[in-house]
Formats: sequence, structure tokens, C-alpha cells
Amino acid sequence: MEQTTRRMRRLGAGIALAALPLSAASQAWPVKPLRIVVPFAPGGSTDIVARALGARAAEGLGQAVVIENRAGAGGNIGAEVAARAAPDGYTLFMGHVGTLAINPALYRKLPYDPIRDFAPITLAIASPLLLVVHPSLPARGLKDVLALARSRPGQLAYSSAGSGSASHLGGALLESLGKVDILHVPYKGTGPATMGVVGGEVSMMFSGQGTSWPLINAGKLRAVAHTGNRPIPNAPKLSSMAETLPGYEVINWHGVLAPAGTSAEIIRRLHAEFVKALGSSEVRARLTEDGFQVVGNTPEEFARFIAAEKDKWAKVIAAARIPQE
Ligand code: MLT
Repeated sequence: MEQTTRRMRRLGAGIALAALPLSAASQAWPVKPLRIVVPFAPGGSTDIVARALGARAAEGLGQAVVIENRAGAGGNIGAEVAARAAPDGYTLFMGHVGTLAINPALYRKLPYDPIRDFAPITLAIASPLLLVVHPSLPARGLKDVLALARSRPGQLAYSSAGSGSASHLGGALLESLGKVDILHVPYKGTGPATMGVVGGEVSMMFSGQGTSWPLINAGKLRAVAHTGNRPIPNAPKLSSMAETLPGYEVINWHGVLAPAGTSAEIIRRLHAEFVKALGSSEVRARLTEDGFQVVGNTPEEFARFIAAEKDKWAKVIAAARIPQE
């Protein structure tokens, strides 16, 4: 009898032990700071959104969330760093329309697979870009920009966050739908690219709203049009690109992902914390003021969204005959 009890106790302990690795691991996680890899320089939308959400999620996680800017190659360098990181819940990726949906069609060789290498957590924000020009450029509207571009083919220069970024596609679509030849000058993020317009290195850019509104309000840039398909809350009177170039649309979106293979338990917890961060009135107010539309959805919805966007951009890039990198 005693032997049976002992055996049962041992068996019970065995069952408890078998269950231990998962729950103990998740109970213990996180025991150290997390990092969010931002594949662009500071000052652009990716960095702004990652910092706002990371700071708030850190409170819920009880650990610091560090932002790591790994800029270059249209976001591909940072995306590869995040894709190859250990799937232990300590590395996250701030993905966006460029790295997850545009680059697969634009680059002949991509060092990561946007679907296979990542576990989506939540879509965070979406927002149209602004076509901003240096205030000295004699262009008040898109028609003026098109006329200027036609008067000096190949010379009117626009900056972008890198080849394949949303800001690059903004210019590439303007070229193909507007039938103009403009000069692309890639930088390592919207932050430095926008300063390129302010400093007069280039004439214009499709910049993120969070980056450009303070500069527009300070008179250092002029907004000419937005890239959405309905009036934008921060400037309801600003024309859309599509009013002059039907079919034109670029919505920049950003979301949080982890390397594929991160445990479902950790993904659930990260999802809860990031959605809570997105719902906080302070974060919402900050992001809305910057012109971002706050989203927040489930990992499954975000996965379906990425797949659909990837298909959409492959078609847009093929139809517009945007050359591959
Ligand atoms: C950035 O953070 O620099 C931008 O989101 C990049 C882009 O324009 O795609």
C-alpha cells in the first residue's frame, strides 16, 4: 500500500514535472529587458510608434523595453536581425508595410521571409503619408509638382526612408501614375530623409505624419497632398494624391511581431500587453495627435492582413512596373 502511494506520488511528481517546463518558463518570463528591433533610424514612424508602445508595454511586463535601431536596406537589415533572433520572447520586431509587404516584391533577394520567419502579435497603427516639399519650391498642389517634374526630367529629387520603404513607394507611384521622371535619393529612415528636405538636399518627400507635422507647423516644410483615400483628421482640407492621380494610395502601417517559434503562451501575453498599450488613453492621444490611426487586432487577423497586403503590393508593383532592387 505504502509502496503504491509512493509510486503514485512519484508518478504525480512526474506529471507535475512534465507540465513544469511550459508554465515555469512562462511564469518566469520576462526576467530581463526586451528589445524591439526598429529597422529604421530614429525620428520616423517606425521609431515613434515603437517607443510609444514599448514604454507603455514595459509597465505591464514589469521589464524595460529597449528600442534597437538597425537601419539600412529599406528595413531589410533590421528585419533579418529580428527574424534570426532566438524565439525566446526577448526580441520583438516593429514591422511595417515596407518590410512585410512591399519588399518581397521589390527586392530580388530578401534575407528573410515575412510570413515564415515571424509570429504576428498585433497590427498597431495605419496612416497615410504626406507629400511635403521645401517651402522654397514653387508648388502649392500636386499639379504644380507634376508640372515642375515635367519641366526638368530626372532632376526633381525626393528622399525616402530607403529603397522599398513606404516613402519610396510614394515616389515610385507618383512617377508611374503621374508619368514623370523624378530622382530617388534613399536615406536610412524617414527621420534623416525628412531632414534632407528641410536642409534643401532634396525638394520633397512622402514623409510620415508623426515626423512631418511639427516641421510643417514650424514653417520648415509645406504639405502638398496626403496619400490616403479619405480626408485626414489633422488637415481635412488637404487634397489626396488620388484626386489628381486616380488609383493612387499608400497607407503606411506598423505592427508588432516576434520571431517564428516564440511560444504561444508568450505571444498571448505580449498580445495582451501591446493591445492594452494601444488602448491606453495617453498612448492613443499621442499617436492620434501625430496623425496615426490606432488599430490593434488579433495575431490571426494580423497574419491575414500581412498576407493580403503582400499580395496587393505585388500587384501594384507589377502594374506600375516599379523596377526591382
Ligand atoms: C520610418 O520609420 O522611417 C518609416 O516608417 C519608413 C517608411 O517610410 O517606410
